[in-house]
Formats: sequence, structure tokens, C-alpha cells
Amino acid sequence: MLKGIYPGSFDPVTYGHLDVIERSSKLVDELIVGVLNNKAKSPLFSAEERVRMLNEVTKDMPNVTVVPFEGLLVDFARKMDAGLVIRGLRAITDFEYELQMAQTNHKMEPDVETVFLTTSLDYSYLSSTTVKEVAAFGGDISQFVPGIVADLIEEKMNKRRV
Ligand code: PNS
Repeated sequence: MLKGIYPGSFDPVTYGHLDVIERSSKLVDELIVGVLNNKAKSPLFSAEERVRMLNEVTKDMPNVTVVPFEGLLVDFARKMDAGLVIRGLRAITDFEYELQMAQTNHKMEPDVETVFLTTSLDYSYLSSTTVKEVAAFGGDISQFVPGIVADLIEEKMNKRRV
């Protein structure tokens, strides 16, 4: 049985992430979406909120589960008994960081392989950071994130404004 992990911050999950989740769920028997809870960072959404959003938007994908993690990705992969890490590559600018991460992870845990999916052209420009920036200035984010995510971002932004 092939178990893969698609790790990320998902702050928030975008259509670009969803595209990678959908496509990679067809490549493995079980896909674990690993949500990094990085205590050194202050994300817009807590890990619990990000897990909830991801559960909602992946509810029709039966072989996908969403699990939060802290610490090293390779430790999480070992704990989950997953031999594959999947990452999306949008553009050449992603490559250097992704290569470094994949090679570091492989040095630490040679039994875990990283594979890359090139993101669909439709979403190759998209990032959680730009979504948050557009939303912060009141822009329309409906084409970047699922409706329930857009509503939650708007709620957060409104709270920040008061
Ligand atoms: O969505 P992101 O922020 O690009 O995801 C980055 C992520 C979560 C995959 C990466 O930061 C990660 O794996 N962090 C866990 C810590 C770790 O294992 N670091 C060593 C790899 S160089």
C-alpha cells in the first residue's frame, strides 16, 4: 500500500493546493495532507482552523485524510508510515527551496522519497500569501479559494479591521 504525504502550511488552502491534492490522491492508495503547526510563526488561521477547512474541502475524496504535525517532516512521515512526500512546483522560483528541502529530507531519512507535481497552469501564479494580501485590501478572492475558505478569510479580515 502506497501512502503519501502532501505537507504544507495551507494558510489558507487555495485552489492550487486542492488541485495538487486531487491529482496526487489518484497516485497513492492513501494521501495524508500534513498541516504544519509552526509555533514560531503567527499564521492567519490556527492549525485547528486549517485542518477544519481542509477536511471540509476534501470531504469528497475518500482516500484523503488531514493531519496536523509539528517538528520535522521526516519524523511525521516515519510516524505515519508514509514513504512518499509530494510537493507542488509552480515555477522555477520554487525549485531551489524545494530541491534543498527534498535533499535535506532525503539525507535525514533515505527511505522517504519526494516527488513533485507541476501545478496546473491555471494556478501556477497562486499562493496563500497573495490571497491574504488581496483579501486584506478588500479584493475579490473567489477565484483563488473555495467559497467556504473565502468566507472564513473575510471573517478574519473583518475582525482585524475592528
Ligand atoms: O506550504 P509551505 O509553507 O511551503 O510548506 C513548507 C513545509 C511545511 C513543507 C516545510 O516547511 C516543512 O516540511 N517543515 C517542517 C520542518 C522540516 O522538516 N524542515 C526540514 C526540511 S528542510
